[in-house]
Amino acid sequence: MTDRYAVFGQPIGHSKSPRIHQFFAGQTGQQLSYTAEEVAPEQFVGSVKAFFAQGGLGLNCTVPLKELAFAFADTKTIRAQRAKAVNTLKLEADGSVLGDNTDGCGLVTDLLDNHAFNLKGSRILLLGAGGASRGIIAPLLGYSPQTVVIANRTVEKAVELAAEFQDIGVISGCGYADLGGQAFDIILNATSASLSGELPPLPQGVLATQGVCYDLAYGDQPTAFVRWGRENGAFYSLDGLGMLVEQAAAAFYLWRGVRPSTHALIELLNAERGMS
Ligand code: ATR
Repeated sequence: MTDRYAVFGQPIGHSKSPRIHQFFAGQTGQQLSYTAEEVAPEQFVGSVKAFFAQGGLGLNCTVPLKELAFAFADTKTIRAQRAKAVNTLKLEADGSVLGDNTDGCGLVTDLLDNHAFNLKGSRILLLGAGGASRGIIAPLLGYSPQTVVIANRTVEKAVELAAEFQDIGVISGCGYADLGGQAFDIILNATSASLSGELPPLPQGVLATQGVCYDLAYGDQPTAFVRWGRENGAFYSLDGLGMLVEQAAAAFYLWRGVRPSTHALIELLNAERGMS
């Protein structure tokens, strides 16, 4: 029987994950199937149990299921515990389910390996204080930036989130209006504003000369934040397609013990949407 994997989410119709994992399987000579299934939060536990009971070996969980996947997993990796969210479930040999979070390592792999960005000593501005931000903070701090500042519309959420990570790096939280006069080497957009074509209210001068903009969201067209980066002189202004492929590669490695190569796939997906 073919080894089964899937991604659960809602909505899931436009997910690129089946294509990404089939590409990795072909490239590494692994036999497996990978499907995308629409699962509402109230169906989550039943659907996951049924999937594993019917021979499934691993799942990706995306919006809005990552916190539920965290609650479901019997054991969790340290990075998933920090993120308080799980995007990858793996059925272990003893029948227990391991929860991991590969989003943060997907982001830093894209920044470091694909774009030669140096995080050590950098000043990082993180926009947004929701689940997407929480998932990437510990992996970022692991590379010893000079500082991470979280800016959020609801200021208390930024301050509270920063406080959770104070033990592992220099990190603080504030509102957008407090950013005046500061410049950052990298600005990461982890708000959901992009999805509705909106932008957080960023003050002039917040992007340092040669600074980089990175939107965790991605689309067939440049997001509002990617366009903002270009208009404000970013050295690069990237969206999260590379992060998507890299988080998938890390999940594939967890499941199969084989590390796929990502460059050809990222190039192919970019060519298909007319971006190089
Ligand atoms: P996710 O899990 O994707 O991070 P979330 O937990 O709902 O989703 O968080 C969404 C984030 O985007 C929040 O930081 C939210 O700011 P608030 O906490 O103040 O609500 C931010 N956000 C959403 N729309 C925004 C907008 N138009 N401008 C600025 N920030 C926005």
